[in-house]
Amino acid sequence: MKLRSTTTQLEKLKDDIIVVGTFSDQKKLDGAAAYIDRVTSGLISSARTDITGKLYQTSMLYASTGLTAKRVLVIGLGKKNELTLEKIRGIAAQAARFANETGLSTAALPLQLIPGTSFDAAQKAACLSEGALLGLYSFKQFKTKPENGGNTEFKHITIHTGSEKSTAVSGAIKDSETLCTGVSLARDLVNRPGNSATPTFLANTARSIAKSTGLTCSVLDEKKMRRLGMGALLGVAQGTHEPARFIIIEHATPQTAHMAPVVLVGKAITFDSGGISIKPANNMEEMKTDMAGGAAVLGTMQVCAKLKLPLRVIGLIPATENLPGGSALKPGDIITSMSGKTIEIITTDAEGRLILADALHYARRYKPQAIIDLATLTGACIIALGNDVSAVMGSSETLIERLRNASEQTGEKIWPLPMHAEYDEQIQSDIADMKNAGGRGGGSITAGCFLKKFTPDMRWAHLDIAGTAWTKQTKAYTPKGATGVGVRLLVNLLRNWQRMKS
Ligand code: BES
Ligand code: MN
Ligand code: ZN
Repeated sequence: MKLRSTTTQLEKLKDDIIVVGTFSDQKKLDGAAAYIDRVTSGLISSARTDITGKLYQTSMLYASTGLTAKRVLVIGLGKKNELTLEKIRGIAAQAARFANETGLSTAALPLQLIPGTSFDAAQKAACLSEGALLGLYSFKQFKTKPENGGNTEFKHITIHTGSEKSTAVSGAIKDSETLCTGVSLARDLVNRPGNSATPTFLANTARSIAKSTGLTCSVLDEKKMRRLGMGALLGVAQGTHEPARFIIIEHATPQTAHMAPVVLVGKAITFDSGGISIKPANNMEEMKTDMAGGAAVLGTMQVCAKLKLPLRVIGLIPATENLPGGSALKPGDIITSMSGKTIEIITTDAEGRLILADALHYARRYKPQAIIDLATLTGACIIALGNDVSAVMGSSETLIERLRNASEQTGEKIWPLPMHAEYDEQIQSDIADMKNAGGRGGGSITAGCFLKKFTPDMRWAHLDIAGTAWTKQTKAYTPKGATGVGVRLLVNLLRNWQRMKS
């Protein structure tokens, strides 16, 4: 699937279908809808009674005259003053999917599909591109035959820029395409089953991304981890035959190579069975998604490199399976993390915080400006915030504020949870420095408090993406399955990065 842009007049476009929009609270046609109506001698106005403008409502019309592209898709934009960037992404996705499901293979989205000027042309171009690309995503790598009646391959989306063509607009389209490759990479990795997306596979993927985009990548094997004293990560890894990997991937430009980096840490449990504290069988297959934090970091790193961001960014991805083998960690065991702090294992199913503990400690060597970790960390996060909002916690209000700002702009919703000192009591151990689980109450917060112990004096934020990394039903521009959550949020944060003084 390709994205192109054109200034050719709408009536001359050769795409299979042209998409136009109507508001639900405005009778008069506007923008591309008005234009198409004019060149087709009233195609849309003659069907006006059936076209309500209700958000996402679609009607396909056939033009007998006036258009090279014979088909017009009229899509509802909802109420005029309720239109948001998020809805524009959804509108583009619905339109692109409609075209795909109808068996067409190209579609034109004019910027004037959104009439009016409350959003600038570059913003509209970015959101239409993102929506279409993300909405059309599918994961077919393990299908040996195309689905019945399914479209072979959607060829391209044409963004029609008309008179609004500018370098800002074409830049926005190119950058959105780059961004979406990062999201798709993350989705692909999360959708990929655990027997294929192993720690070794993730490491090889990181190496090949690095090679093709100019990142630096190194991978620690278990021997090296042992030398570094990564007892928490190795503790989780000891129950499986699948070798663990610690992936280090770095982006910098010649100008930024020596600056204090932003470090991104992503949990990558390639399958979480729970270990000896084994999980119930129901829905356990979804635990292949427990590496979504790591996938988001890889996706983000790829985009950082391709956009040549004037920053130094380092991705750290501790990767292992969590299985109940004969040498697995047991409840009651005490392990020593790389920081030297000891951890009493209450449940082997609280494994994510263990591998993150060593990664967060490892991050200290870079003297980073800021550390952000992403992890499908707690089921409690789904109870607290559901499946559309990730939790954010941390030690830097500035960093959290920046993340919330990026969240507003990208539609990747986040919400803060408190980290009062009282919560720490829940993870106090009688015989070790801490326990790895703090009981049912405030489960996401006590997990955050656990991580905090490994980031003393650091600007740190933690995103719990347990509820948002996977969706059981298709959403506006997110087909069911892996969402790729985190990539757009982090890229937005990094594109607007202002140096944090030490
Ligand atoms: N990977 C899970 C959290 C999770 C649950 C992610 C559901 C996505 C969907 C994590 O490793 C885990 O098992 N957490 C435990 C912690 C508890 C035992 C302290 C949990 O949330 O139940
Ligand atoms: Mn677990
Ligand atoms: Zn887990």
